[in-house]
Amino acid sequence: MARLYPFLSLLLALAALHGTCGVEYEVENDTPNTLGGVRFDQDIGIPFTKNIMGIINQFIWNVFEQPTPGRPEGIADYMVLRAKLNGTGFALPAQGDRWDEGYEVTARFLEYCDSLIMTGFTAALNNKM
Ligand SMILES: *[C@@H]1O[C@H](CO)[C@@H](O)[C@H](O)[C@H]1NC(C)=O
Repeated sequence: MARLYPFLSLLLALAALHGTCGVEYEVENDTPNTLGGVRFDQDIGIPFTKNIMGIINQFIWNVFEQPTPGRPEGIADYMVLRAKLNGTGFALPAQGDRWDEGYEVTARFLEYCDSLIMTGFTAALNNKM
């Protein structure tokens, strides 16, 4: 999101927990007079952004079998793979020389571990970290 909308300041605030997990999103267009800021206000808007942030985070928590928010930030490219959003330039399976060569290669390594060890391996690893 930050790469797509550098003008947009997204503040994710972990607010008071309501029951299982309550997250309050604060979204602010801090450059409303730029072309991107105007487009954001016209085409995307704060209500949509807040809604999609909730949907994205719920998807991440479901993949990681994690009922509460907080930990999955470090494995973003694994989420890109799981969401089937890897484009043509994304690392291919078995690409790279080391598992930690880069985010995309790490994501492929985790995908490989899921297939080799067990489905949900990455979720379990994430919970242990
Ligand atoms: C994304 O990754 C999946 C799983 O490895 C693969 O089947 C698919 O072809 C990839 N998509 C692209 C555009 O390379």
